[in-house]
Amino acid sequence: MFRSLIFTILCGFAAADTSSEMDQHWELWNQTHNKVYFHQIEELGRRQIWEENLEMINVHNLETSLGLHTYKLGMNHLGGNTTEEIAGSPTGTIVPSDLDRNPSDFIWVNTSLPDSLDWMDADLVIEVKKQGGCASCWAFSAARALEGQLKKSAGTLRSLSAQNLLDCSPKYGSNGCKGGFMTQAFHYVIENQGIDSDYSYPYTGKSMDCHKCASPIPLMQKTCEVQLV
Ligand SMILES: *[C@@H]1O[C@H](CO)[C@@H](O)[C@H](O)[C@H]1NC(C)=O
Ligand SMILES: *[C@@H]1O[C@H](CO)[C@@H](O)[C@H](O)[C@H]1NC(C)=O
Ligand SMILES: *[C@@H]1O[C@H](CO)[C@@H](O)[C@H](O)[C@H]1NC(C)=O
Repeated sequence: MFRSLIFTILCGFAAADTSSEMDQHWELWNQTHNKVYFHQIEELGRRQIWEENLEMINVHNLETSLGLHTYKLGMNHLGGNTTEEIAGSPTGTIVPSDLDRNPSDFIWVNTSLPDSLDWMDADLVIEVKKQGGCASCWAFSAARALEGQLKKSAGTLRSLSAQNLLDCSPKYGSNGCKGGFMTQAFHYVIENQGIDSDYSYPYTGKSMDCHKCASPIPLMQKTCEVQLV
């Protein structure tokens, strides 16, 4: 991957095909995401990738306005990365070989279903999170699923701690920033009878020692943990 990155960067440098009109926007993006480069050559290469991505986004959004797509794209912190780099970075899903794949009991519900349902409209979904360089998608996936369940059952939407799952579920087979699976996180939550909130156990993006109740949540709870009801 490093080699292909160097290649991309050198190609970027050789072509040096950046648009000066975009200088200000590049600086703004660069500052917003606190980008650090080892060398000016790297910055130039990243700039070219960023311009290509920006053009791809703009063309896509133009097509959306013409009814050719149903969704829009936006620039984010990965705008200076190639598709290959992003696809090559670890996401973290490691399906356990002994996973119980039996379906749940079928429950008959005699009710009319809506044509469509958006969980965002139902206020069951919190904001988008960033996992950073840690292969912790499984922990985020588990925490997000529990948030929706907590909101449905208890009526409160709270951000639950992926870091808590990252640090405390290795006992159940997960491997911190090297990957894991949602069921392992759920086993921890069941045994622990709850999960910390993001506020009390914030995300660091590194595997750390398991700790609990770093700082209690002000408001209602007796402990800093959210009890799943
Ligand atoms: C981008 O950010 C880096 C690190 O802060 C800085 O060294 C560089 O000069 C910035 N580039 C621009 C064009 O602002
Ligand atoms: C994305 O680009 C940054 C430099 O802006 C680099 O540090 C990072 O490693 C790249 N990400 C991936 C997944 O390669
Ligand atoms: C479902 O409910 C409707 C009205 O409440 C009823 O008429 C119908 O017989 C029910 N169907 C089944 C399969 O139970």
